[in-house]
Amino acid sequence: ITPIRKICCIGAGYVGGPTMAMIAKQCPDIEVRVVDINATRIAQWNSDTLPIYEPGLHEIVMESRGRNLHFTCEVDSAIAEADMIFISVNTPTKDFGVGAGRAANLEFIEKCARKIADVSTGHKIVVEKSTLPVRTAEAVKAILSGSSSGATFDVLSNPEFLAEGTAVEDLLSPDRVLIGGESEAAIGALVDVYAHWVPRERLLTTNLWSSELSKLTANAFLAQRVSSINSISALCEATEADVDEVAMAIGTDSRIGPKFLKSSVGFGGSCFQKDILNLVYLCEYFGLPEVAEYWEQVVKMNDYQKRRFVNRIVRTLFNTVSDKKIAIWGFAFKKDTNDTRESAAIYVCRDLLREKAKLSIYDPQVTADQIKKDLQDVLRNGDAELSEASARLIAENVEVVDSVEAACCNAHAIAVLTEWDEFGKVDFPAIYRSMQKPAFVFDGRNVLKSLPLDEYGFVYQGIGFRR
Ligand code: NAD
Ligand code: UDX
Repeated sequence: ITPIRKICCIGAGYVGGPTMAMIAKQCPDIEVRVVDINATRIAQWNSDTLPIYEPGLHEIVMESRGRNLHFTCEVDSAIAEADMIFISVNTPTKDFGVGAGRAANLEFIEKCARKIADVSTGHKIVVEKSTLPVRTAEAVKAILSGSSSGATFDVLSNPEFLAEGTAVEDLLSPDRVLIGGESEAAIGALVDVYAHWVPRERLLTTNLWSSELSKLTANAFLAQRVSSINSISALCEATEADVDEVAMAIGTDSRIGPKFLKSSVGFGGSCFQKDILNLVYLCEYFGLPEVAEYWEQVVKMNDYQKRRFVNRIVRTLFNTVSDKKIAIWGFAFKKDTNDTRESAAIYVCRDLLREKAKLSIYDPQVTADQIKKDLQDVLRNGDAELSEASARLIAENVEVVDSVEAACCNAHAIAVLTEWDEFGKVDFPAIYRSMQKPAFVFDGRNVLKSLPLDEYGFVYQGIGFRR
């Protein structure tokens, strides 16, 4: 096996950036270049303010940047000079044509494959890092085989399992690294890269298709756990059982395990919904409607959970939130990230705005522009004619503020939508005094559950229990 000396990663996003920063840190003998067509993003990676927030990321980028880690827009030369090319571009849900709303849009993957075929010479290993439908490597191989220079390629699948908010930790000490491929030599070359810091027994190798399918399956199973416990949370609210107690009780069964059983306002993030919908589409494509329907239920349950949360707020606030100020605590889809993609907050805020509420939103990491853009997009729902009306709705009813205190002043209710640690540490008596009475707290993450909010005077409701 010829050791890898130069790596190029196409796509400087939430996966490409942190993953390559970790490889560069752990493999000082390998030159890593991360390329992107988005010049602003590359400029951010080269600045002091990185485009994504992840605990510990700044430090590892600073350690290697300019040494063996480079962020650049010079896509062609970075590909041409690399021995190994990771494709880490986005694979969003297709919003047009065949499979719209379900299938993955593979346009960016195909463009990368064509670019690699165009500018490569000699032999290269192409690694699918993006999450892809099973059998995508077939298309990638077909495109690469058309290289006009006669370059040859091995294609590997190496899906990424990091979770946002803990990306650095996950990359440093992964449960496993999965590598699927056909050529032993190519698999060995990538195994050697990871073996710089990951114990060999955690480097799993499979055939290409198992590797591709394992990524969608892992996300489907994880999301299914959240939807399963969320379904039980509804039953808990109806029966005075407590979902956290139920989760603890079932989670101590070693066959079930304690992780990923935290009931919430609903899962978000760029992956779960997209990957399940993609799995559903694939099952339908391969003529397996019963399997498709089984997995689709995970997404339906998640939508139900978000709706249920808003309905409960409206019902509890005497059946109207019209013209009432509601403080929104947290907009990111989970703590320790500035990512808002598919965040439950987007849908909760949309539905509250449709009920004519006034929202005062605070998130420690998400910018006001991002929040307003997300709300504009969800209210418009792809219809250009709704642009003006939704912009007006936001301008008149949404403010983004820089503290929970500002969000709560004169508010009728607080809705906790992200589990940021700082939310447990605020001066609740002072907040209570600043609010309209009765002062309601709807805790979509159960992060304030152990605090004596009732004693301070609040009417407190969480997910999956009644007091
Ligand atoms: P992202 O949108 O943050 O980043 C993708 C980047 O690719 C963008 O900066 C975009 O400009 C760039 N790009 C697109 N087409 C390009 C091209 N032709 N040439 C050069 N650059 C191009 O996406 P992400 O969150 O990093 O996700 C990337 C992939 O990894 C997806 O398939 C996703 O499903 C998967 N994944 C994501 C996570 C996560 O936590 N975000 C975890 C595991 C897997
Ligand atoms: C997920 C997978 O965990 C990761 O392996 C994959 O590579 C990408 O997709 P991510 O979406 O970044 O990672 O975060 P994750 O921690 O999985 O959380 C996803 C959503 O589920 C969040 O909104 C989170 O708040 C929610 N969640 C998670 C719950 O509501 N309850 C839980 O018990 C766990």
